[in-house]
Amino acid sequence: MLKAENLNVYYGKIHALKDVSFEVHEGEIVALIGANGAGKSTTLKTISGILHSKTGKIEFMGEDISHIESYKLLPKGLAHVPEGRRIFLQMTVEENLEMGGYINKRVTDEDLENVYSRFPRLKERRSQIAGTLSGGEQQMLAMSRALMSHPKLLMLDEPSMGLAPILVEQIFDIIRELHEAGSTILLVEQNAEMALQIAGRAYVLESGRITLTGTGHELMESDSIKKAYLGG
Ligand SMILES: Nc1ncnc2c1ncn2[C@@H]1O[C@H](COP(=O)(O)OP(=O)(O)OP(=O)(O)O)[C@@H](O)[C@H]1O
Ligand SMILES: [Mg+2]
Repeated sequence: MLKAENLNVYYGKIHALKDVSFEVHEGEIVALIGANGAGKSTTLKTISGILHSKTGKIEFMGEDISHIESYKLLPKGLAHVPEGRRIFLQMTVEENLEMGGYINKRVTDEDLENVYSRFPRLKERRSQIAGTLSGGEQQMLAMSRALMSHPKLLMLDEPSMGLAPILVEQIFDIIRELHEAGSTILLVEQNAEMALQIAGRAYVLESGRITLTGTGHELMESDSIKKAYLGG
């Protein structure tokens, strides 16, 4: 479904991604793990066309999207929930959801109900201004807004960041449900343990390079991963 080949991304002189290649197959959950500054968010931003690679190629559903503008990707089925939940703070919950569905020209009540059944909290707060939601609620809204566009591939950048453990569990449950319902997911996480538990396959990024790949289970059993990311 997604194939990134030999990406090299720079911020001025900083070489942030070095020969990064990876694949996501339809129906998979693939995790990208790594320390702060490893290049995880840079990778997602490059896939979604916010940043551009100097080399290589990105293919989505068989199409070369390396040079496509970012706003054209959502209609193609590629949704990106960025780090820090970029929701529209001044709009209500429901207006945010409608913006997500707008890409399909028409927001159906069915889409809204589907989201609200997954996140009853958002239904209770449908008229609340999004900027006044709690952090966890904002994260639910950011994920829901992406779901309104019915993405083929959902890229999540640290969905558990800053959330209380109970909410982290909930967010991961929802990722699991979305996957069971047929979504393909590329998940970036600091929480390596939870990410590896949920992921079919994973890649480890270190200083802009992919240094290790395998099934979630294999990586969880790997000594170097245990040492570096799973607290021994
Ligand atoms: N706009 C920018 N200008 C210059 N350097 C940047 C910029 N954005 C990111 N970087 C650098 O690129 C590297 C990779 O950053 P990136 O945000 O991809 O890391 P990350 O793996 O997502 O980290 P985190 O877990 O902290 O979110 C870091 O060294 C970072 O300082
Ligand atoms: Mg990041």
